[in-house]
Amino acid sequence: MGPGPVCWALLALGLCCAHRARPRHVLLIVADDGGFESGAYNNSAIATPHLDALARRSLVFRNAFTSVSSCSPSRASLLTGLPQHQNGMYGLHQDVHHFSSFPGVRSLPLLLSQAAIRTGIIGKKHVGPETVFPFDFAHTEENESVLQVGRNITRIKLLVRKFLQTRDDRPFFLYVAFHDPHRCGHSQPQYGPFCEKFGNGESGMGRIPDWTPQIYGPQDVQVPYFVPDTPAARADLAAQYTTIGRMDQGIGLVLQELQGAGVLNDTLVIFTSDNGIPFPSGRTNLYWPGVAEPLLVSSPEHRKRWGQVSEAYVSLLDLTPTVLDWFSIPYPRYAIFGSKPVQLTGRSLLPALEAEPPWATVFGSQSHHEVTMFYPMRSVQRGDVRLVHNLHFKMPFPIDQDVYVAPTFQDLLNRTVAGQPTGWYKDLHHYYYRERWELYDRSRDPREARNLAADPRYAQVLGLLRAQLAKWQWETHDPWVCAPDGVLEEKLWPQCRPLHNEL
Ligand SMILES: *[C@@H]1O[C@H](CO)[C@@H](O)[C@H](O)[C@H]1NC(C)=O
Ligand SMILES: *[C@@H]1O[C@H](CO)[C@@H](O)[C@H](O)[C@H]1NC(C)=O
Ligand SMILES: *[C@@H]1O[C@H](CO)[C@@H](O)[C@H](O)[C@H]1NC(C)=O
Ligand SMILES: *[C@@H]1O[C@H](CO)[C@@H](O)[C@H](O)[C@H]1NC(C)=O
Ligand SMILES: *[C@@H]1O[C@H](CO)[C@@H](O)[C@H](O)[C@H]1NC(C)=O
Repeated sequence: MGPGPVCWALLALGLCCAHRARPRHVLLIVADDGGFESGAYNNSAIATPHLDALARRSLVFRNAFTSVSSCSPSRASLLTGLPQHQNGMYGLHQDVHHFSSFPGVRSLPLLLSQAAIRTGIIGKKHVGPETVFPFDFAHTEENESVLQVGRNITRIKLLVRKFLQTRDDRPFFLYVAFHDPHRCGHSQPQYGPFCEKFGNGESGMGRIPDWTPQIYGPQDVQVPYFVPDTPAARADLAAQYTTIGRMDQGIGLVLQELQGAGVLNDTLVIFTSDNGIPFPSGRTNLYWPGVAEPLLVSSPEHRKRWGQVSEAYVSLLDLTPTVLDWFSIPYPRYAIFGSKPVQLTGRSLLPALEAEPPWATVFGSQSHHEVTMFYPMRSVQRGDVRLVHNLHFKMPFPIDQDVYVAPTFQDLLNRTVAGQPTGWYKDLHHYYYRERWELYDRSRDPREARNLAADPRYAQVLGLLRAQLAKWQWETHDPWVCAPDGVLEEKLWPQCRPLHNEL
């Protein structure tokens, strides 16, 4: 039964039949290089009371993945729903190299502002151009110190307050992008390897009034399987925990501001991170530690699954469809590759808040991190099985600057050169020189240490996953779909032949 005549009349006046009288909002919180170091993800070595409290009001995703393990590409993918090879943000956005999304891309903030939703960003933006990623309210590294807008939680709290005080009756989308727990030792060693000294008074940087530093010792941390268990790495992780503690307290302050303004109960709150933690096998890798992300989705309207853990395989490419769904905004059909219509390959996560979905497949696509770090990879993961295609597998894997100079990696290099035990689950030679196809089954090999690509028992799985990956690459107009292996694989991908003949 449709709305009655009275209702139609009132609808025309915009008064009735809307499901709710008050606008619905979205708060998206993104950590910078954050991982699973929280009570919400069963790490009992670190105290994260605010994340844990948010998790009790969220569906907690155990199998959430970024499609790309690099800051700007991940943020651009998250904010467009398009993988890096489709939105154009191939690598880091900053400085003269200036990777940027294509000018025709319709990003989430663009679509939201066209739908009369007020948008705000506080913290690290690291995407562009401005015409693709416009925000009505913006306090970012583009015009302020990223240490202030991304790590000074008092400043962040006051900016959230300002955003809320200056709001009108429109719904809002507020994106709080912490710079914590990103390292800062490579560029600003005076603040400590993880910026953990920033704001504690002793470093001469002044205090952050709302921050009570939580200090950890090397013996306190849980060493993840992909980090060498050495004194150097433990000290590194202890410093990381301190910055996670600052972000956690910041999250508490941000949520308190929404509560104080009376809007928290109308707001979908999402917490995640852009890529894996800055340790070997983590950020810039498409292995599990590089792409697995925390993901909490808290809807005041979907309380049935609060505090539950979802096993569904979901992607950060799903966040744009999720936010559009929350605001009931359709994704427009438009072209950015000649006349080809572009469609999102992600899906809204809102149905998962009602019942556990059977979703099992996620994709990955990486081309650069720093401008010098060209190492294209594509991946598909189906349940516990992950396939990684290293397109230029004969090149050594490039190690990013920030990971390279960090104590954990320096210690690993030193130990390798000295022939000492590394305490690591891999060796550097195989880390630099990878196979063309890597196939791992985490159900039998949780550390992804045994490549099964050449194992005849996995031949059928390999074939299925390769076909699935190629299909997604075609669907998302991946310029790398036929390069460089397409030449070798014309039998498998006959579609590549005309592309090569054009040359
Ligand atoms: C934490 O551990 C409990 C008990 O083993 C488990 O049920 C839950 O799924 C775990 N949570 C996450 C996010 O992995
Ligand atoms: C940064 O830009 C915003 C508006 O986009 C403005 O309100 C703010 O004052 C600017 N900050 C500085 C330090 O100029
Ligand atoms: C953090 O921000 C607050 C509010 O703007 C300011 O009072 C304080 O000095 C800042 N702390 C540091 C260390 O810059
Ligand atoms: C919050 O919203 C839910 C669903 O919209 C509603 O059932 C509940 O009563 C609200 N709680 C408060 C404190 O307003
Ligand atoms: C690695 O070795 C160099 C040269 O001996 C030394 O200066 C540096 O402190 C070592 N780094 C670590 C983390 O052990």
